[in-house]
Amino acid sequence: MSEKIQFGVDYYPEHWNSERIETDIKLMKEMGIDLVRLGEFSWSKLETSDNNFEFGWLKQVVAKFEKVGIKVVLGTPTAAPPAWLIKEHPEIQPVDRESRTRHFGGRHHCCHSNLTYRKYCERYVEIFAEEFSKSTNVIGWQIDNELGNSHNELCYCDSCEKNFQRWLEKKYVTINELNQSWGTTFWSQTYNDFEQIQAPKLTAAGENPSQLLDWKRCHSDLIKDFHDEQVEIIRKYSEDTFITHNMMGFSNVVNYYELAEKLDFVSHDQYPSGPFHKEQNRQSGDHQAAELDVIRGIKQQTFWIMEQQSNIAGWDVLGRLPSPGQISLWTVQSVAHGADTIVYFRWRTSAMGTEQYWHGILPHSGIPGRVYEEIKTLTKEIRPIMQQVNGIKPKSKVAIVYSYDQSYAFDIQHHHPDLNYVDHLRTYYKGLYENNISVDFISDAADFSEYELIVAPLQFILTNELAEKYRNYVQKGGNLILTMRTGVKTESNICYTDSPLPGLLSDVLGIQVPEYDCLLDTEVRIKIGDKNHVANKWADLITLTSAEALASYDSQFYKGTPAITQNDFGKGKAYYVGTEMSPSLMSDFIDRLQIKKEAQAAPIGVEIASRESEKLIYHFVMNHTDCIQSFDPPKHWTLYKDDKGTKTIPEHGYLIFIENK
Ligand code: GAL
Ligand code: ZN
Repeated sequence: MSEKIQFGVDYYPEHWNSERIETDIKLMKEMGIDLVRLGEFSWSKLETSDNNFEFGWLKQVVAKFEKVGIKVVLGTPTAAPPAWLIKEHPEIQPVDRESRTRHFGGRHHCCHSNLTYRKYCERYVEIFAEEFSKSTNVIGWQIDNELGNSHNELCYCDSCEKNFQRWLEKKYVTINELNQSWGTTFWSQTYNDFEQIQAPKLTAAGENPSQLLDWKRCHSDLIKDFHDEQVEIIRKYSEDTFITHNMMGFSNVVNYYELAEKLDFVSHDQYPSGPFHKEQNRQSGDHQAAELDVIRGIKQQTFWIMEQQSNIAGWDVLGRLPSPGQISLWTVQSVAHGADTIVYFRWRTSAMGTEQYWHGILPHSGIPGRVYEEIKTLTKEIRPIMQQVNGIKPKSKVAIVYSYDQSYAFDIQHHHPDLNYVDHLRTYYKGLYENNISVDFISDAADFSEYELIVAPLQFILTNELAEKYRNYVQKGGNLILTMRTGVKTESNICYTDSPLPGLLSDVLGIQVPEYDCLLDTEVRIKIGDKNHVANKWADLITLTSAEALASYDSQFYKGTPAITQNDFGKGKAYYVGTEMSPSLMSDFIDRLQIKKEAQAAPIGVEIASRESEKLIYHFVMNHTDCIQSFDPPKHWTLYKDDKGTKTIPEHGYLIFIENK
């Protein structure tokens, strides 16, 4: 479906006078652009007042692109309901947990459970899809925009409260069942019927973690339902076009595994360097690599980048200016991790509105400059390789389990103020990344048997089924790393009480954890072999039953107590890490794993990521640092393009090698 498309741009012709499009099209063609995404925020220009649709201008735009062979993806503009709609129905606007309305003037000023809003969205999407599905130049659709973005403050309006009550009734059937599951005898929270349950607004003091977890799950389901309704409408009109959604890496507001069920493939918006990124990120690349791997993991498929950073990024505060080569490097990195198509955000920097400083390929003036030339060169260079790797994925022997439920549970109870579910996962990812070990992120529902090593951090909520799955995996020969806070809670976020931690998996791990320490304002020393390290945030005080200690604490009153353990169980091995490891401890720990021995070495800051077909492996070697790096490839890797025998990679440069299997 996507073979012929390698490069696109996000284009907003409605922001410019109508003659400019001729210049833009010419520049796009010269640059090697095959596709534009249009329309995803243009509701007020396409339905100018209630039921008054004016598609003419967009049809002309689509026709102009058709003439020059540039394909179109259309976005549904439902993230930006127009002013006339808000005036007619102000109740569409979302309400925050302090009961304040979030008003018109930005975007995402909509409540997904509001039936009036839903009706207007349905009508728009129906008419839009019917009209534009007639154009053979429209090859795909994007639903809404970044669902979950701006929804960190979920909507707490009356309609969302009712929706929550209905969702709970469906899940628990009787109010007694809910009372049991939520532990409502605590602080006299017993409900007599579902109508008494409120959206978890700002309370006088404290909250019920079971209620909060269900609230987050309910909202994720709501957004999925909103999304799927649009998918179903578009499918009626357009069977041979694709439908996708632009996701945001580790954003957890919507469960992406579920959101993706009805999509042909997922897309991702990749912004490696904005005002919110730290300087060190510019020298490593592990953060953006992890996001790409998470996105590939959503459907275990290759994907599109629907918004690839093309220049300096920022709203009111700006990020750093990408250095020469860096936009190309980030593009190649997306491809290396499984992107088949790269669509740059945005074609031209907007003169108006919130995103005046979120720069595009062209500056405000519209005059092509350094970035335009760089991407133009890049499209020529890597298009052939992109055509070859289309649809083939990296092959990973290691997986990290990424779970929305665990993420929600840690958002609700951080434990340590700085403990964050994704950051904790990323300590493992980074350790593996620095050794160039390819990682898949997988759901806990995935098939574990494909992997030699599974890292499953913070398995806080542990159902019997999941515990069984881990047990079987190790029994049959898998290597499993579990961590602190495993086996603590039931599905409804209540603590298990029938055995010491880690509860259901104690025998697999060969340990018990009778006590733990939250390392507030302190760290703990750790000894692994004869090396000294530190660890942070948390310390499980481990008692061995059948495991052996790999590392022990070397300070605090529990000096000498095991901190990291290893246990033979069935044909496999189960490791337990009772703390958050520092980078040096992580590196020492990874050195002890079998998987490390097979990895290809490269200097720090040089990343190797590979896509692997039946016969060939394509290795992308990427220098994220701002100095020249040397790289000595194995003998059987051949350079994809002759670079006159050089073994160096310029700052922010890359090399591509091919290996015959
Ligand atoms: C993305 C969004 C785009 C644009 C961009 C820059 O998150 O999808 O519409 O807003 O960020 O801010
Ligand atoms: Zn609402």
